[in-house]
Amino acid sequence: MQFWQLAESRRSCLEFESTPIPRAALERCLLAAHWAVDPGRSQPWRLVILWGEKPRARLAEALGVAPAHSAAVLLAVWCRPHAGDVPTPTELLAVGAATANLVLAAWEQGVGSLWLPEALLGRPDVTRACLGLEGEHLLGVLAMGYPAAVPPRPPRVPLEQCVRWAP
Ligand SMILES: Cc1cc2nc3c(=O)[nH]c(=O)nc-3n(C[C@H](O)[C@H](O)[C@H](O)COP(=O)(O)O)c2cc1C
Repeated sequence: MQFWQLAESRRSCLEFESTPIPRAALERCLLAAHWAVDPGRSQPWRLVILWGEKPRARLAEALGVAPAHSAAVLLAVWCRPHAGDVPTPTELLAVGAATANLVLAAWEQGVGSLWLPEALLGRPDVTRACLGLEGEHLLGVLAMGYPAAVPPRPPRVPLEQCVRWAP
């Protein structure tokens, strides 16, 4: 798929088929994240992939939302700060960039995704039990799978409202 078509056609998906995602397809997504822009070559993103049935079901149960239950893979995205305990805004942006690459690489292969960013906020017990993370900066969970349906394109604020061409 050409980049333009990829960027324009990608949609967040709310419901997935039960078809598993081949490991090679997932690895391609991870590689796309791996090559994202990053500040000072820090690569602050970290990913935990739950693709086995039991761990995935356990996290889906904790998340308690339908897309997590139908997802073939749940992928936790977190940030490892270069120094100290608190990620810098730049590091958080880099994790977003890696996630965007990942989501586009998935879509290119026919795999849909949905960002569930706040589902595990303030739930360190779940984060520990389901992901093996201890006090790390979890930024969200991506539900991934072959879409059962692709939602229509949502309305967008007109481009002119988001962009100003400086003379
Ligand atoms: C940081 C972030 C957080 C999001 N959180 C949610 C969410 O909690 N629930 C949800 O259904 N979609 C969530 N989304 C998906 C957006 O709703 C979706 O991207 C937006 O409606 C545009 O639709 P599209 O992705 O199909 O273009 C999130 C997206 C981003 C980038």
